[in-house]
Amino acid sequence: MDKSLREFSWDILEMIDMGIHVVDSKGVTVFYNAAMGRLEMTEPSDMMGKGLAEMFPSLNRGSSTLLYVLQTGETIVDRVQTYFNYRGQEITTINTTCPLLKNNRVIGAVEIARDITKLRELAEKVSYTRKKGNERQPRQTRERLRYGFTDIIGESRGIRDAVGIAEKVAHTSSPVLIYGETGTGKEMFAQSIHRAGMRGGQAFVTQNCAALPESLLEGILFGTVKGGFTGAVDRPGLFELADRGTLLLDEINSMGTGLQAKMLRVLQDGFVRRIGDTGVTPVDVRIISTANKDPMKSMEDGTLRKDLFYRLSVVYIKIPPLRERKEDIPVLSRHFINRFNARLKKNVTGLADGVKDLFVKYDWPGNVRELENAVEGAMNVANGDIIELCDLPPYLFGDDDGHREKTGGYTLPVYGPAEGGPALDDMLDDMEREIIINALKSSGGNVTRSAEKLNIKRQTLQYKMKKYGLRM
Ligand SMILES: Nc1ncnc2c1ncn2[C@@H]1O[C@H](COP(=O)(O)OP(=O)(O)OP(=O)(O)O)[C@@H](O)[C@H]1O
Ligand SMILES: [Mg+2]
Repeated sequence: MDKSLREFSWDILEMIDMGIHVVDSKGVTVFYNAAMGRLEMTEPSDMMGKGLAEMFPSLNRGSSTLLYVLQTGETIVDRVQTYFNYRGQEITTINTTCPLLKNNRVIGAVEIARDITKLRELAEKVSYTRKKGNERQPRQTRERLRYGFTDIIGESRGIRDAVGIAEKVAHTSSPVLIYGETGTGKEMFAQSIHRAGMRGGQAFVTQNCAALPESLLEGILFGTVKGGFTGAVDRPGLFELADRGTLLLDEINSMGTGLQAKMLRVLQDGFVRRIGDTGVTPVDVRIISTANKDPMKSMEDGTLRKDLFYRLSVVYIKIPPLRERKEDIPVLSRHFINRFNARLKKNVTGLADGVKDLFVKYDWPGNVRELENAVEGAMNVANGDIIELCDLPPYLFGDDDGHREKTGGYTLPVYGPAEGGPALDDMLDDMEREIIINALKSSGGNVTRSAEKLNIKRQTLQYKMKKYGLRM
């Protein structure tokens, strides 16, 4: 080719409205045009002669297509890549990346990138197709999104701070780890983050890591190929199904450490390999994980790998337990009363003073879920328009009534008797009723004194009197 013509082609590449980035075999930039500069908010002159690792610290072999191609010699076509430029802005591009070969040796790589942020936004507005072709999501992973940020009630500093962080990071793709005791609203936070961000129209896939044995979970997360192991079928894993969307890994602290190591590899590389597969599939998934046990403790006792923790907790959100933000109890109670008024067609207007006091004193091991259940239960039995102490389940007063166990707010099922004969429960109820009647008789109907005699709290006695239809 005529030399001046060759110079023209460089000029054309320089002017074209498509980002072009060429690196040598060491990942050092040798060509970088203005369009790429606009995409990555970078001065082309700053890029020349610099290594990728230096310019984009958040990239690694997995998340950088250029580095991947340099190492493997493979070509990647139309891969969506989301990353942060060195000014901390998130960019989404569609890239084709090819190795530059000389005598079968990789001497460099070229990346051609188009900004698809606008296109994607438009496409998401027009239609929402969840997944390509026939790769339907398994039923248990299809998630109906129920929550958004406006559903998260609470005025305490702790909850407002947590919501503040969550709202800010909703627009990025950084991994988020949410730590909170059971019933504190981790699922609400995860769904809200997904919905508010640019992945909101994409798949939201949930997997509980405690529910399955490690080997099964591995296949579910990464997928399998036919013949990979006996009986294996071609099935995409949840990473693939969540591509471009969000994968919620619930109770990450319960995942086996062997699988944690494999997870780490996927997160670092940005590629998954189905079990039994020889090839890899690039995935673009935002990971939100939750822990119901303090991750620091899980790392100490060796159940959570440190390297995985640091990878997953780029954004760390702690939701305080309800007992540490008691100022949220009144507004949460009101919220639940309104909800159950509508649902149960009731007209409850509030809580009696004694109930308010008890709610503040109680330590709510089952957190907001337990409060929600207590309000619902009370509203089922409440006669008037105010929830009274006697409407509440007795375990809230610290007494066990023989049927319930404290289990973080849940009620253990009471198993029925064998067929025939009176149920043990019924017999116990009859006995209890008689004992209460006797106590009331012997104290002239005085509830407080009867309760003292029976060595239970007054409120518990009132509850039981109501249960057995005993009126004073
Ligand atoms: N701040 C809140 N405002 C309103 N409702 C809440 C709040 N926090 C929790 N809830 C309610 O409490 C219940 C439990 O919430 P969620 O499932 O998100 O908790 P979780 O932390 O994921 O619990 P678990 O660890 O048991 O999975 C839900 O019914 C939810 O609506
Ligand atoms: Mg949950």
